[in-house]
Formats: sequence, C-alpha cells, structure tokens
Amino acid sequence: MFCQTVVILGMGGTIAGRSARPSDNIGYMAAQVDIAELAAAIPSLTDQGPVITEQVAQIDSKDMDFSAWLRLAARVNHFLARPDVHGIVITHGTDTLEETAYFLHRVCQPTKPVVLTCAMRPATALVPDGPQNLLDALTVARQPDARGVLAVCAGTIHSARDVQKVHTYKLDAFSSGDAGPLGYVEEACVRLLRTWQFEQDLTLQAAIKNIENQLAPTEWPRVEIITNYVGVSSAVVNALVACGVQGLVVAATGNGTLHHALESALLEAQLAGVKVVRATRCLNGRVLPRPDDRLPDSKGLSPVKARVELILQLMTQGSAQ
Ligand code: SIN
Repeated sequence: MFCQTVVILGMGGTIAGRSARPSDNIGYMAAQVDIAELAAAIPSLTDQGPVITEQVAQIDSKDMDFSAWLRLAARVNHFLARPDVHGIVITHGTDTLEETAYFLHRVCQPTKPVVLTCAMRPATALVPDGPQNLLDALTVARQPDARGVLAVCAGTIHSARDVQKVHTYKLDAFSSGDAGPLGYVEEACVRLLRTWQFEQDLTLQAAIKNIENQLAPTEWPRVEIITNYVGVSSAVVNALVACGVQGLVVAATGNGTLHHALESALLEAQLAGVKVVRATRCLNGRVLPRPDDRLPDSKGLSPVKARVELILQLMTQGSAQ
C-alpha cells in the first residue's frame, strides 16, 4: 500500500456548493461546504493512504483575488516541503481554475504533483460530479512519477499551461486545446498520453521569494485585458493608460490581428512604457510570431494566462538577485 500523505486544500467553488433542491444543478450557492465534510462524505478517500484536509479559502472562484492566491501558494509550498507529503489536491471553482493553476505553475514550480479539481454540480446535487473528480485527483496526486501543476476534471488530466474552461454547463467542461490532454484517469488508474509537464524558471522563483513578503496584493501591477472586435476604438486603451495601467493584454483576432485604431493606441501605450502582449481570442492555436511584429505575442498563452504571466514579470522585474 502507498503510504505517503496527500494534502487536500479547499478553496471553495461548486464542488463545495449547496442548493435548496437536489434536482437544481444551477440555482445553488458555491463555496458552502467545508473540505473536511466533503472528504468525510467519500469513505474510500483514504483507501490508498493518509489524507490531510485544510480549508485555505471558501470562495466562489469568480471572486478569486490576489490575497487568496498568496495564501494558497504559501500553503502549497509549506506542504510540498514536507518529505512525508507526496502530492497536493486543491478543490477550486471551475470559473477561474485555469488562472490559479497557471499562477501556481509559475510561482511554486512543484517537483511533486499539485492537482486542481472541481465540479460542475453542487455537492448537494442528486448526482454530483465532485466526489469522482476528487477521487481521480487523488489518484493523480498519488502517482509515483507525477509532477507539476495539473487539473483533473471528468476523468481527464490537463496541464496548467493548456487547461481552459470551454463549456458553461457540461460536466466535461475543460479542454487542453490543440495540445490535447496529458492523460486520463480510468478506474483509479492513470493512462498517460504525454509526459508530465514541468518547467523550472529559477530566476522567477528567486524573484517571487523576494517579493512574497514585500508586496501587498493591493500593490500588484495593474494589468488589464482588452479585446479586438468589430468597430473597436482607442477609447478603452486611452482610459486605462490615463488610469496608470502598467500592462495590457489584448485578445486579438485570429493570428494576432488588430483593428488599426486599437493597434495605434496600443503602440502609443507601449511607447509610453506600458507592457503590451498580444494573445488571441481564438480558442485553439497560438499567435505565430513574425519578424516584423511591433507588439510581442503571448507565446501560446490564453489572454487570462498571459495576464498572470505579465503581472509576474512586472512584479519581478529587477527583484531577482
Ligand atoms: C466557481 O467557479 O466557484 C463557481 C462555478 C464552478 O465551480 O463551477
């Protein structure tokens, strides 16, 4: 029997949601049930070894904020450092799970598995999906060679870099786009399709350690996302620059194209010192760089993840010694 501990950190979400009627899958309150209660409701949870639960936050993930992220990263790092802990599972709302996953991927860079999981139906549903997702996440967290930040939902394993919520209602709400999933969990067995994803960026790691205790979440760099669309003007960019925005991610059309009015405003903003990054509003594919690009691309990151990356870049500029 596998005896190392897995830690489950509760962050809230629909997996911890409660509805007045069991048949109601959408009219519920997210983030109501404690992680200890959720775990206790699954008798086979500890079949494979010891489990520790800890409530880090109780949030509907649409309201996720930088303070909760910092608290979570600190608890993840704390437990990762324990030799008796093999892996961590995080229960989280689906709505911003991909942003939290990418944040932890960059900030914690774990050499052990950190597995985010979730549910599309509340804990009180007639047929909830949370318990199976939690069991599948534990299976991945106990996998001997697993590493990096992962997301597990509806039997599918995604990497933090590629995972994206793509459906508003279906239980299988996530996709890894054209990268494809890392693998599947089938009856408590992992079927891996690609190798575990792990990137180590020592400069960023050192810089993050430096800023962890120095920068209050309210002082994190302001980075906003804007979109290219028919008839867009320079107004939003100009207003954001006037408010002192430090970074702008543009969800461009297609392969990074921009309406000429928006492009001019963004080039002006860049000239004024605002960091500008071009992602695409297309769900699949990436902005392919060209030698004559005047605005850098997001290196395959979606707009929300490119924003997290830009915030971290701006935070750590010059602080990694
Ligand atoms: C949330 O993101 O916290 C609510 C929605 C969900 O978990 O599906």
